[in-house]
Amino acid sequence: MQVVTDSSALKESLSELSDKNYRIGLVPTMGGLHAGHGSLVTTARSACDVVVVSIFVNPIQFAPSEDFASYPRDLLGDRQKLASWGADILFVPEESDLYPDGLSGMRVQPPAQLTSGLCGPGRPQHFAGVLTVVLKLLNLIRPHVAYFGQKDFQQWRLIQQMATELLLGVTIVRCPTVREPDGLALSSRNAYLDSRERLAARGLSRSLATILEHYQKGERAAAILLERGHCAWDDWFAKNACLIPQLEYLSLVDTRTLEPVERVSAESVAAVAARVGKARLIDNVLLAPASPDLPLLSWPAAILVE
Ligand code: PAJ
Repeated sequence: MQVVTDSSALKESLSELSDKNYRIGLVPTMGGLHAGHGSLVTTARSACDVVVVSIFVNPIQFAPSEDFASYPRDLLGDRQKLASWGADILFVPEESDLYPDGLSGMRVQPPAQLTSGLCGPGRPQHFAGVLTVVLKLLNLIRPHVAYFGQKDFQQWRLIQQMATELLLGVTIVRCPTVREPDGLALSSRNAYLDSRERLAARGLSRSLATILEHYQKGERAAAILLERGHCAWDDWFAKNACLIPQLEYLSLVDTRTLEPVERVSAESVAAVAARVGKARLIDNVLLAPASPDLPLLSWPAAILVE
């Protein structure tokens, strides 16, 4: 695996490849890599000739009150993981490479419709920061395909919309969420959790699994499904006598518009965000007869703490 730390070295490596008409796949990340990132890299590996992974903790997608400074950074460990997953090029740019004119310059403004719900209200500048850095990476690397995780559903949807509306000519692929054996979605921020918080964090996937279960049994009214999800949320903390995370939202939205639905269809997603200790965690499941999230239903419903 080649490691490049500036955009001119990257351009040089890539120019040889485009001569050969190689299919280039890009996996943008902020590092702190785990098996969720691994699934994106191995998916890219199976479909592309050249797999480029970027690691860049993007300052402009963090609010001043957020965890930019403490975000997990482990370049050595990440390099080893990426080599074992089969990445060809690791791009680790300097801030000045991606923001040559400083951090207060040009931004991609996401449409209000896609940011007025879910994580948008709680993180007002976040998605403009994400879209801006992803557009810069796409422009530098010019991949044929770029891979993103379903775990960050709203992020994926906005990037897909940006690629379509700005005529970027890149295919945006969404990869299923990778989870811990007990259902918790893998996240770099899980590293912030102590054992009590780790147990509490399972409340997110339990409430989503309950919504999915009732959907599978035929319930289609969003209000009832959300009530079931909220009950499962409360039950989890009552049964496990663990601390109660601060629920930011539990919503049922349309996969395309991200607007709340009254009746759930095969085009709906249940999404949740909560603050557990220092970590802000998010998760979601697709409500579809053949949802990739169905294994969630077979994960243990409760772990009783003695
Ligand atoms: P990061 O949180 O490092 O995530 C990089 C990619 O990995 C994203 O597409 C994310 O959705 C995906 N991912 C994270 N956890 C996953 C899981 N459990 N299963 C499957 N995929 C998972 O998302 C970002 O970085 C940044 O916002 C970025 C797009 C790189 C822009 O800075």
